[in-house]
Amino acid sequence: MTEHASNETVTIIDNTNDRQAVMPLLSGTAGAKVIDIRNLYKELGYFTYDPGYTATGSCQSKVTYIDGDEGVLLYRGYPIEQLAEKSDFMEVCYLLLFGELPTKEQKDKFVYDVSHHTMLHDQLNYFYRGFRRDAHPMAVMCGVVGALSAFYHDSTDINDPWHRTVASYRLIAKMPTIAAMAFKYSVGQPFTYPRNDLSYAENFLHMCFAVPAEPYQINPVVAKALDLIFILHADHEQNASASTVRLAGSTGANPFACIAAGCAALWGPAHGGANEEVLKMLSQIGDKKNVGDWVKRAKDPDDPFRLFGFGHRVYKNFDPRAKVIRKAAHDVLGELGITDPLLEVAVELEKIALEDEYFVKRKLYPNVDFYSGIILKAIGFPTSMFTALFAVGRTVGWIAQWNELIEDSSQKINRPRQLYMGPTNRDYVPIEKRS
Ligand code: SDX
Repeated sequence: MTEHASNETVTIIDNTNDRQAVMPLLSGTAGAKVIDIRNLYKELGYFTYDPGYTATGSCQSKVTYIDGDEGVLLYRGYPIEQLAEKSDFMEVCYLLLFGELPTKEQKDKFVYDVSHHTMLHDQLNYFYRGFRRDAHPMAVMCGVVGALSAFYHDSTDINDPWHRTVASYRLIAKMPTIAAMAFKYSVGQPFTYPRNDLSYAENFLHMCFAVPAEPYQINPVVAKALDLIFILHADHEQNASASTVRLAGSTGANPFACIAAGCAALWGPAHGGANEEVLKMLSQIGDKKNVGDWVKRAKDPDDPFRLFGFGHRVYKNFDPRAKVIRKAAHDVLGELGITDPLLEVAVELEKIALEDEYFVKRKLYPNVDFYSGIILKAIGFPTSMFTALFAVGRTVGWIAQWNELIEDSSQKINRPRQLYMGPTNRDYVPIEKRS
């Protein structure tokens, strides 16, 4: 990673012991500068304290930039709005992995290479049989993705760039197959093998919804909407699941284990599990006339109910992805001729929340999960598949962040410290002397 020649510094004055330490102040190409505190403990004997790492930079990265105040999201410098309008998911995968938009030849070869890794080792089919049919698809994803390292020993040497490339392609190619098989298993239908003549999104729809009994017609409107959803979910800087992948990667764990760890972290309702919770919340609200009561509950500090799909650790403005998805939700439902009352509930909820002082003061805006479920439901996915779809789109971002970590010579095993609040040293008490 780029070492900084900056001579800017910050002086930390320790009034307790009448001393100070001078720390380098590092500048990136955009965004907040960072205080390099790597020598803080050596100089002052102190750790920093930042529960949830809300103000901590864990790495240098060139992949994704977010300006939370302005609602800006760039993948390798390109605005998400432009990529959503003009690009496609395979091209965005190439951009995130290699840092530049591909030429036509580069893109064609990338698409060919990825599409020729879409099949799973047939033994993996038996993994699904071990799950109950009603297992949550994310439980299946965590299990099967982790199991890939039992099959692909020829691409687990993280220090071999070729191994990393093969593992990266395998994961991007196989995640849709694994997710589609989880869906098929949950509905008791036979697995549908991938087809290499279809685009990434078309192939996923085919594997999920085609049945042996009749031909499956791919709706181009639906395929384009799904491709857009994958683009919008592809990466998002050092979010909880990407940080989990990086932390696992910092121990030298193989890429399949790292991505399985990312799946597990994404599943949480405060993170990627929110899209499923949004649909449940909108269904609970049921009708736009009930929105006011639920907004009251969300504001009540004594009520654990929170508005899923609202708020964000970084965005204190509209999540730019939410704006794109909101428009796509209206377009897709219109083109499919679907009127979903939950969309009306979502629009009313957004309107009321954005005018309410509680949300305005806390800068709580709709995030990427607020509208995505409306589209996924219209396409025909059950809410239980929403986070699995998020994982399919996010895999390329996890992989790009993981590769960057492995190639970063300044990275060490990630090992945070703590502020210890437990008992100080004390002697063992024999059981007969305990009261
Ligand atoms: C994703 O990090 C990423 O980039 C994630 C992601 C990605 O692409 O990887 O963008 C994907 O995870 C999007 C977020 C999906 N999660 C949800 O929609 C769940 C609902 N949102 C909240 O859980 C919450 O907003 C978080 C977890 C998203 C953010 O939490 P923060 O930044 O820690 O916010 P906070 O808890 O400090 O909130 C500040 C205040 C608090 O009130 P006070 O204590 O100041 O009175 O806002 C309140 C919170 O109680 N608040 C909410 C709220 N979110 C925050 N109140 C009601 N409803 C909400 N949704």
